[in-house]
Amino acid sequence: MQDGEIRVDFQKVIAVATKRGIFQPAFDAYGGLAGFLDYGPVGVRMRRRILEMWRKHYVINAGCLELDGALIGPESMFQASGHLGEFDDALVDCKECGKQFRADHLVDGGEEMSRTELAKKIINISCPSCSSPLSEMSAFNLMFSTSVGAGKGSPGYLRPETAQSIFLAFPWLLRQNRGKLPFAGAQIGRSFRNEISPRQGPLRMREFTQMEVEHFFLPTNEPSLTMELRNTKITLLSADGKESQTTVGQAFDEEVVTSSLVANHLARAQNFLISIGVPPGKLRFRQHGSNEMAHYSSDCWDGEINTSLGWVEIVGVAHRGDYDLSAHGNASSREFRVPIPGTEKEIELWKPDIGKLGKEFKGDAKLILEAIKNVELKPNTSLNINGKDIVLSEDYMSQKTERRSEMVYPNVVEPSFGLDRILYCLLESSWNIDGEREWISLPQDTSPYDLLVAPLMTKDGLDTKAHEIMKSAIDIGIDAYYDEAGSIGRRYARADEIGIFYSMTIDHQTLEDGTVTLRERDSKNQSRVSLEDALNQVRR
Ligand code: GLY
Repeated sequence: MQDGEIRVDFQKVIAVATKRGIFQPAFDAYGGLAGFLDYGPVGVRMRRRILEMWRKHYVINAGCLELDGALIGPESMFQASGHLGEFDDALVDCKECGKQFRADHLVDGGEEMSRTELAKKIINISCPSCSSPLSEMSAFNLMFSTSVGAGKGSPGYLRPETAQSIFLAFPWLLRQNRGKLPFAGAQIGRSFRNEISPRQGPLRMREFTQMEVEHFFLPTNEPSLTMELRNTKITLLSADGKESQTTVGQAFDEEVVTSSLVANHLARAQNFLISIGVPPGKLRFRQHGSNEMAHYSSDCWDGEINTSLGWVEIVGVAHRGDYDLSAHGNASSREFRVPIPGTEKEIELWKPDIGKLGKEFKGDAKLILEAIKNVELKPNTSLNINGKDIVLSEDYMSQKTERRSEMVYPNVVEPSFGLDRILYCLLESSWNIDGEREWISLPQDTSPYDLLVAPLMTKDGLDTKAHEIMKSAIDIGIDAYYDEAGSIGRRYARADEIGIFYSMTIDHQTLEDGTVTLRERDSKNQSRVSLEDALNQVRR
């Protein structure tokens, strides 16, 4: 079978996912709530294994500093980050049936259009559900709002990306990193977007899990493309529509990818995706056009998998420049800039005499100190405090010499992965069919279980022996699944359907000589080996 071949459709994956305990629509008993899923016993395991692989790749091997931030944030933060003003989709309602739609999903090529272009096109479109006229287009903010505290409380929002907590934690993480740049923060966690009409199960969710890295660096010292990653083969589709099968090094040398750190992260993201089982032949990185780019990005490449529903984005690698750190630096009381190395020099500064200010201005002294934080203090500085003009003479200050550096906001490159979409795409792309047999052929690291333990029958002590073997397997870290129901063929078929990597059968010979039959999922090869050899082979 070909690496790029599509072998199963969306409906079938969703049906098997429900039947085999991977995921199902949440709140089903109450008619469901679009955009929310529950993961079952098999799905939770698969998610956990993908997360473990991601942590291994980015946190353990690449040394990213891991964070687990709060899910609800204050309005002031989302005002500064631009999410309150700009994180929206274009909405149209049907004037007759009241259904709501994303305008860019109703127009061919709508996702790449500017809002003005879209508004012109949408006039000619009628409701896909009842063919009545649609409303004018409006902007619908995608954040879920809530209220924090009793009574009216204060406005808060569920985070629409984990990234903002990493940006806000930048000064803290910088201290953990002994003040050194570059470094990266990483976070795995839930995010929330009030999507207008999510219909594609795990592909468009209102509550979803992200795995994000924010890689901070001095704009004058961007990390270079490493030799180790230069030769990574990659398929790129740039914003001008040109597709190239190239290497990351060549794409950077030819300025198809203009940032060395973005190039690094394209290669890293691809290596991670291949390690969890994404077939390289189904993967490409597509550059955003200017109309598609998020408000904070100056360049963005989406890692996409070819599925039965078309290309699906599972990771975005974005250059966010200093957008976020400068936004929070300007709007909050924290310093988000860092000194530029080599620019330190002695300068003469005027410093306020706090004692004299207190004596003279009493309660206003605190406001004066606040106000002079934002101006360059010098003799006869005028301030407006509570509507009164105050001129601070030399008597209220003294001159000091300090060593100071020029300050700059670090830049950021962000690889952002969507776990739910990755899981769906892995199920679809690793689906195999051979006659009657259907199986998921994920690598062992992302299969939900390492081993099926199956007694040939539930008598003659075979089930007792199988339970003993289960315990030994679990004790040495093997994720094992016990199944004694039905024929051995049925049990293999069920194990294949969720992609269990090995199956072990315990029969009468096991009781006599301690050997078992070990079956490998993809090849179906069976070998008769000692229990010890079998467990050593299965152990990861
Ligand atoms: N942090 C990027 C995103 O959530 O899309």
